[in-house]
Amino acid sequence: MKLWGGRFSKSTDAAVDDFNSSIRFDSRMYKQDIRGSQAHAKMLGKQGIIPEKDAELIVKTLGEILADIEAGKVEFTIDAEDIHMNIETILIERIGDVGKRLHTGRSRNDQVALDNKLYLRDESEELKSMLEDLQKIILELAEENLETIMPGYTHLQKAQPITFAHHIMAYYEMFSRDLSRLADWRKRMNILPLGSGALAGTTYPLDRAFVAEQLDFDGITRNSIDGVSDRDFICEFAFVLSMVMVHLSRFSEEIILWSSNEFGFVTLDDAYSTGSSIMPQKKNPDVAELARGKSGRVFGSLMGLLTMLKGLPLAYNKDMQEDKEQIFDALDTVKMCLPVFGGMLATMKINKDVMLIGAKGGFTNATDVADYLVKKGLPFRDAHAVVGKMVAYCLDTNKVIDSLSMDEFKVFSELFDEDIYTAISLETCVNLRKIPGGPAMETMKAVIEGYKNK
Ligand code: ARG
Repeated sequence: MKLWGGRFSKSTDAAVDDFNSSIRFDSRMYKQDIRGSQAHAKMLGKQGIIPEKDAELIVKTLGEILADIEAGKVEFTIDAEDIHMNIETILIERIGDVGKRLHTGRSRNDQVALDNKLYLRDESEELKSMLEDLQKIILELAEENLETIMPGYTHLQKAQPITFAHHIMAYYEMFSRDLSRLADWRKRMNILPLGSGALAGTTYPLDRAFVAEQLDFDGITRNSIDGVSDRDFICEFAFVLSMVMVHLSRFSEEIILWSSNEFGFVTLDDAYSTGSSIMPQKKNPDVAELARGKSGRVFGSLMGLLTMLKGLPLAYNKDMQEDKEQIFDALDTVKMCLPVFGGMLATMKINKDVMLIGAKGGFTNATDVADYLVKKGLPFRDAHAVVGKMVAYCLDTNKVIDSLSMDEFKVFSELFDEDIYTAISLETCVNLRKIPGGPAMETMKAVIEGYKNK
């Protein structure tokens, strides 16, 4: 008979059991479920709600069940519906009536809210360290490329010279924001829902603060209806994951472009590329493409969660069981992408000479030519127009600004002097941009040092 079977006169249809059961996917929360139950049992004993020695036996037996699960000795059944009832059933099988006391003052509704929180909180620690590992790789790559000049783009058209360090440190910032979002998420979600009961709390004198402390929560939820029906923390977590994927996907897109024959800025390591079954010459950036492609399913999870939640009346509804597969898939996807993406970055070859040639074309120093004239007294708008004419002349004559003779410069403005050549060298263009946030080597170096010592 089901744990809740008392009022039923027949058993559920097999198809309904299958449809209703979540054990296929929520079994992964076994550790958190046991941890939560142990804290609950301890508290029940301490409060004299159940005999102290029963509480002790429950805590001990749950520990043994945990060990048996980890040793692969336990088989869950769809008959017991979900992880909560599977574990409770096993407990009762092992210690009979004592086990039946565990669920006192608790509902699966507050139990599942708790397990969800504990599970995501544990996972968030792993996500955090994966993001930090990726940042370390970016930092090292940046340090090695402080002087690697490359073209910076807007509209995917060459704009101004930057360094490769400057470019990839932009991603470091993105992942820092992801980490800060994660820390912020934790602050908001880290309150204990247990004690909310089915929706209206309980008449037992539970010590919620004690349970909160046992389980490392910063406090307790203040409304039992919200306690069991809140899934904001799952949606928010899915958003954090989605933003990570946006960042990985943008980064991937650049790597795909950079590794193309047209760009040639980077060469992916053979260990991080794949071939074609028909074209012998092919070397494809599959890792970056998959990271870009998988972003869609993570965003899909976020949309799925929001949609699942938006029409639900308070408090618990079974729809909420659908929160798990969505967030698990999003989490698994991100956790799969991050390390392999890091490996691809760490092993790719940076083609510095190709980047430099790229920066030399496309008039990336045109702004600096205008700024030169401004420093000699010309208003910026006039300088802009002068340099525009110079660019047109260069395009007609197939020249670059740096290669013009002094006489040619003078045709466009009397203000030009010999010092123009150093003023618009790419090194000058980059290294005069010492402004905080800019690409100058010394500025970027200080930023990197700061992050290394943080
Ligand atoms: N498996 C359920 C879930 O994941 C647990 C809560 C069930 N509560 C209930 N009243 N049926 O949401």
